Amino acid sequence: MQLDVRGDFPIFARRFDGQPLVYLDSAATSQKPQVVIDAISDHLAHHNANVHRGVYPLAQEADAAFEGARARIAAFTGGQARTTIFTKNVTEAINLVAYSWGGANVSMGDAVLITQMEHHSNIVPWQQLCARTGAQLRYLEVDEQGALSLGQLRQELERGDVRLVAFTHISNVLGTINPVKQMTDMVRAAGARSLVDGAQAVPHMPVDVGQLGADFYCWTGHKALGPTGIGVLHGSAEILEAMEPFLTGGDMIAAVDAQSSTWNELPFKFEAGTSVVAEAVGLAAAVDYLSALDMQLVRAHELELTGHMLERLREVPGVSIAGPAQAHTRGGLVSFTLAGIHPHDIAELAGRAGVCIRAGHHCAQPLMRCLGVGATARASVGVYNDSGDIDAFAQALLSGREVFGL
Ligand code: ALA
Repeated sequence: MQLDVRGDFPIFARRFDGQPLVYLDSAATSQKPQVVIDAISDHLAHHNANVHRGVYPLAQEADAAFEGARARIAAFTGGQARTTIFTKNVTEAINLVAYSWGGANVSMGDAVLITQMEHHSNIVPWQQLCARTGAQLRYLEVDEQGALSLGQLRQELERGDVRLVAFTHISNVLGTINPVKQMTDMVRAAGARSLVDGAQAVPHMPVDVGQLGADFYCWTGHKALGPTGIGVLHGSAEILEAMEPFLTGGDMIAAVDAQSSTWNELPFKFEAGTSVVAEAVGLAAAVDYLSALDMQLVRAHELELTGHMLERLREVPGVSIAGPAQAHTRGGLVSFTLAGIHPHDIAELAGRAGVCIRAGHHCAQPLMRCLGVGATARASVGVYNDSGDIDAFAQALLSGREVFGL
């Protein structure tokens, strides 16, 4: 094992029916190290004031904590503080782009291109944009190996009507790692814009948004060892400058007259209302923690666990695995079905053994239809897992088969 950090995460002191916690649901949300919990608690206990408003020393401390957090969070993914916008989550980040950029740049006769492997957060905002504007929503297909076709992307772009291509960096169901740089290069060459959902990538591998070249790249704090309530949108300065705000009100203005207003500079133009201060402080502590572990090592650790998970799953009779066959072409999650047992029953039986996995459509109903299933079970790893967790999970599946008389 590359990492041995479970002791940094207080939740693993819990016992369920006397059994240790085997947490394999990090794709849904990550557990939090003590340093993140302490950073939030310390901020609220000793440095709390509203930001961008006060001139007294405590408010200046809060300002420094918040904008310092933004700088560290931006740097973690190779972004600039000025073009790193805090949202509530990835869903809000995508809605921001769909309303502010889409409303001004997509109209009847245009198309938005997404993929069959998207999370609902990267489908529904585009459906709604197309419903408002009369634009067409088209999908790149997912093949038998869980991959997209760059040939189909080329064909779609050659039609000349695609204004934006929105796709996930790593599928939350298939685990597929998409070739982001190749795709964003093709999209740019065709004169279109790209948006990448990095929710399943940023916590698990080195990500440099400058190198990846997306016009918009979003990710979320709670999957990256940080708190809920904070998402991140990186955008290109030129595009963000040209966009109208999404939500309006306090803090995002330069001046307010009786009938009209002017907008604050980036990134504040897109952050209406009191900021997510404690959340940003917590997320900054999380990315500092991940950086100290080294994201190359995080990826190596999780790759080893994913390979072990694939091996152990293949030993369980009746298991069908969705997505790429090789661990190195996947993120750290595996969705599967087990013949004769509904995914929800698998998850419940595993839960009785202290093993936490998710079952359901994973907010990806169009992909479930492509796979020909209503639901899958999914196990996903984080920095705190070890091979013993994977073995406990495999044992829970084998015991589950016995319960069902298989
Ligand atoms: N998007 C999260 C998941 O895939 C909630 O579980």
